Amino acid sequence: MYHIKSIAQYKKAYKASVQNPEQFWAEIAENFVWQKPWDKVLDWNFTEHSIKWFVNAQLNITENALDRHAQKTPRKTAIVFEPNDPNGKIEKITYLALLKRVCQFANVLKANGIKKGDCVCIYMPMIPELTVAVLACARIGAIHSVVFAGFSAASLADRVNDAQAKMVITADGLNRGSKFIDLKQIVDEALVHCPCVHTVLVKKHTKTPIKIKKNRDKLITTEMAKVGFDCPAEPMDSEDMLFILYTSGSTGKPKGVVHTCGGYMVYAAYTFQNVFQYRKNDVFWCTADIGWVTGHTYMVYGPLLNGATVLMFEGVPTYPDAGRFWQVIDKHKVSIFYTAPTAIRSLMQLGLEYVTPYKLDSLRVLGTVGEPINEEAWHWYSQHIGKNNCPIVDTWWQTETGGIMISTLAGVHETQAAWAGFPLPGVQAVLLDAKGKEIKQKEAEGYLAIKFPHPAIIRTTFGDHERCRQVYFGVYKNYYFTGDGAKRSADGRYRIIGRVDDVINVSGHRFGTAEIENAINEDKNAIESAVVGYPHDIKGQGIFAYVIISQEANDSSPDEIKKSILATVSKQIGAIAKPDKIMMVSGLPKTRSGKIMRRILRKVAENDLQNLGDTSTLLDPSVVDEIIQKINALEV
Ligand code: WT7
Repeated sequence: MYHIKSIAQYKKAYKASVQNPEQFWAEIAENFVWQKPWDKVLDWNFTEHSIKWFVNAQLNITENALDRHAQKTPRKTAIVFEPNDPNGKIEKITYLALLKRVCQFANVLKANGIKKGDCVCIYMPMIPELTVAVLACARIGAIHSVVFAGFSAASLADRVNDAQAKMVITADGLNRGSKFIDLKQIVDEALVHCPCVHTVLVKKHTKTPIKIKKNRDKLITTEMAKVGFDCPAEPMDSEDMLFILYTSGSTGKPKGVVHTCGGYMVYAAYTFQNVFQYRKNDVFWCTADIGWVTGHTYMVYGPLLNGATVLMFEGVPTYPDAGRFWQVIDKHKVSIFYTAPTAIRSLMQLGLEYVTPYKLDSLRVLGTVGEPINEEAWHWYSQHIGKNNCPIVDTWWQTETGGIMISTLAGVHETQAAWAGFPLPGVQAVLLDAKGKEIKQKEAEGYLAIKFPHPAIIRTTFGDHERCRQVYFGVYKNYYFTGDGAKRSADGRYRIIGRVDDVINVSGHRFGTAEIENAINEDKNAIESAVVGYPHDIKGQGIFAYVIISQEANDSSPDEIKKSILATVSKQIGAIAKPDKIMMVSGLPKTRSGKIMRRILRKVAENDLQNLGDTSTLLDPSVVDEIIQKINALEV
């Protein structure tokens, strides 16, 4: 049952997973090394939101991801590293070498006071040391919290404090295309506000000068030289925390999504094998940064659990030119390639002259993730990259689901452009109507929800279980609510429409509108703001900010004010959250009870002025006239 190879097997597996989930997942879980077997497969309750998979079992995920393969296939390449600089040094790390390096790093963590249950924050470039650091934490039972190295010092500090991390692992600097980011300096700035951190480990990577804070900062190379290569894998309870990963919601600050050891391991491995139809000589390349969940599950755990060879790329698709992805695919004979629609759209726009020089004949399977893919991009990807010869898996899932939930299985199912596909075995997807009632007919549109826990479902939001319960399990009783709207076809295929809450998806990155508003409101020129998403050709959604400017700010030019707001958002969150458009307004459309009518703001941002709907309930309808005038004059 572990490897599904045909439609008939998919149907059989799906049926078994619904009729007897416990037996189904127990059989899958038999493929792993457990230090102690489970007493019971599943304990669950969506009301309290308490989920336990493989109850009382013990395991260590690194034994399954490393030791097994280091024994059987020690010389097989685990990681191929392609640096940012196309002429830089390629690194190939075998399973045996990776195991040793992880153990050595794990000993460094221990020597620096990290124990089982402690949280370690990792803020690194996409270099092998990042994978090593993640696995070293897992080796000793420390909880990793990887923060994407594009978030600002303020965001980093928030995440470090929320998780009460004791250590930060970073590098001197980072090269992403022609851009340089001074990582260590950002860490220094952040840690002024983080008394919980006692140690900072620094990887010398860009060889840029750094300040060393005595008794806190240590060089990884120096520390590694002091310790040995042996480190036993810590026995972990199946439900012990494996990692925290912060993600944005519709309200408040980003929340720390918690995944645990046993269920996540089983699901990451199973979905990797089946969705991509992995074969043992594949070279798998997922372009996501490990700072996002895609990187956790399909750059680190999923492939390594299956003993696969993973390509790790430090750079960006357009450096030194827009052919870089295709050049790297040829260079390393990549056979499975997994990327985001936004990357495809931006490369498509730059023209075929960057694609045609490359053969791309090693490719067998293509994948996309993170946002809906439009038909045009899907066909371009299929035709020009896949040469009409590679199935595309359009994989729908979320930070909270830990692994792919809805997709076709490569080469098993027929694909259909812009339709993600079918729920994977174990995933009981449903569509709900506005009242939260399940829509029974097949062909339908509604809110996408899940009515049974799969092994990698979110366990809690760190430090605030009630928030987790309310946000995901409190909206519709007895369902996990995804926040997405979807369509279903007569044959049971799903098409994801997009978020139905106040979350926007910019280039596959998730932001809460409130989070960006709070950042804008920190700017000296801003009094109040409202942020909405609007369709954007490349990014999927762009960020549109309506900002009420203070009296004093009227002395500055509109350009200066906008610049200042962009700088403030970069400082508060990171450059990835900068609004694409800013409209300065004197008021926001509010109801008499003070609620901002985002529907109107969305319509204006979409330039759909005919369908603004009823504005009569507004406190001051004239603000809408002002907004319309400004959009018509393109004053944004
Ligand atoms: C949101 C989750 C887990 C992957 C990285 C993003 C959107 C994700 C698809 C897809 C349409 C998609 C959804 C989802 N999304 N994959 N294949 N088609 N939409 O993870 O940051 O947790 O965001 O991304 O809206 O809710 P994330």
